[in-house]
Amino acid sequence: MPANSTMMKPAAQAIGVNVAEQVLVLDFGSQTAQLIARRVRENNVFCQMVRHDLPASRIREINPKGLILSGGPASVYGKGSPQPDPEIFNLGIPILGICYGMQVTCQTQGGQVTAGHTREFGNAPCRVFSSTGLFEGVPAEFQAWMSHGDQVRDLPEEFSPIANTETCPNAAVKHSTLPIYGLQFHPEVTHTEHGSRLLANFVKGICGCRGTWKISDFIEQEVAALRKRVGSNRVICGLSGGVDSSVVAALLSRAIGDQVSCIFVDNGLLRQGESDQVREQFSDHFKTDLHVVDAKSRFLDELKWVKDPQQKRKIIGRVFIEVFRHEAKSIPNARFLAQGTLYPDVIESGGSPDGPAAVIKAHHNVGGLPEELGFELIEPLRDLFKDEVRQMGLELGLPEHLIWRHPFPGPGLAVRCLGEITEPKLETLRQADAIVIDELHRAGLYRKIQQAFAVLLPVQSVGVMGDDRTYEDAVAVRCVQTDDFMTADWYHLPYDVLQKISTRITNSVRGVNRVVYDISSKPPSTIEWE
Ligand code: XMP
Repeated sequence: MPANSTMMKPAAQAIGVNVAEQVLVLDFGSQTAQLIARRVRENNVFCQMVRHDLPASRIREINPKGLILSGGPASVYGKGSPQPDPEIFNLGIPILGICYGMQVTCQTQGGQVTAGHTREFGNAPCRVFSSTGLFEGVPAEFQAWMSHGDQVRDLPEEFSPIANTETCPNAAVKHSTLPIYGLQFHPEVTHTEHGSRLLANFVKGICGCRGTWKISDFIEQEVAALRKRVGSNRVICGLSGGVDSSVVAALLSRAIGDQVSCIFVDNGLLRQGESDQVREQFSDHFKTDLHVVDAKSRFLDELKWVKDPQQKRKIIGRVFIEVFRHEAKSIPNARFLAQGTLYPDVIESGGSPDGPAAVIKAHHNVGGLPEELGFELIEPLRDLFKDEVRQMGLELGLPEHLIWRHPFPGPGLAVRCLGEITEPKLETLRQADAIVIDELHRAGLYRKIQQAFAVLLPVQSVGVMGDDRTYEDAVAVRCVQTDDFMTADWYHLPYDVLQKISTRITNSVRGVNRVVYDISSKPPSTIEWE
């Protein structure tokens, strides 16, 4: 699928995950390449993205069951267009080329690709010649998502079409004797009907994967790898109260027990009960060496009089690093620092396993730690997607409420307490926020919403209580539905839930006499207010 830019984004390198069966996605720069990996993993088959030009010799060593060549923004005839090692077609490993991946496959095998004069973008009815093989269990006609300019005009000699659309005679193709396939459309996107089935047919039917990859096996593997790498050294793990760092801590605790020291910085900007929950979870339940640093007054002092959101972020980021560094120094023999970097972060930053730590998007790096801290990094989740991390957390014994907790920004309530931050304001916000979350749980909506919270507005308005006039604060309630937090819709909360939230907040949170509901989407708004 062409991206907006014709620049290739760097792909992650093959990493040394030792699994019995895996499929590799050769990344030609498509924005949906990651989705291919995700869909393959849904079949319990491990899948990772690798550079498009990974040498065939290296692929032979990794010994995957199948290769998928992703789409990409380039044209095969374009100058410097990305090419795979042509030897991959001689490995005998099943290959599926998608969009650009199909074009480059056919071109390498002697076919001709034409530059499309018009871009085809959107759904097209795709007619299947035979519901077998790649199309096993797929109806004779289904909607396929097209997004391409070029297409294969003349197939290589040994190839023949196995499906077409009105404008694309070679919508799907197959080699006559080798397990090499091509799809002009994108099976990985949900707009393609039966796309998951198609990929499952490739992975299980054609590649012969049994689908035995389980998160529990992965845990055992990681535990063994961590023990080997860490030896008798000590690992520091920063806890934030969120899912990723908690899963890292739980995994480390399973792997190396008392050689891990967790640091939790209480910055005074946390949600109601959050600090206690972390303490309870990690020092009582997991019995880790937990350092809770009470830095509330330090943060609040530094934030005094500060109103500008960016300024708040900067101060919080700086103070966090200072506090963390100070605490880390007090832990003897610490050599490693564990972080909860996930696979999407690794891919987005083009990180390589041997390279520097993946850089989380600049906007979201508050709460991150710089390399200068001088530790060797350990990132045990860097092969996993978010839902796999959740699954891992549950298997490691973390409670459901922690696993399904909505994300919380590094700068915490500071970016939800608009304008100047004071402890009484934070307390008001915590109470209102706890009510929002509680009502969502009661209504069975918490897991349907990806992020929900209260915001304390720097606005006072007139109200009436009994016979008295009031002049008090306003709270905004924000609930969003989103796949990736890059775009989001406001959640259409039922009126009765809105009513309960509003009544409870105005009745029980002192100093608040008005509640409003945020009905803005992202874009143009952002999820957070600051
Ligand atoms: P926005 O407000 O940009 O938020 O639509 C998108 C997602 O990112 C979270 N967010 C942050 N997370 N540090 C973080 O760790 C930050 O500075 C930060 N700002 C926003 C936000 O909560 C939402 O999930």
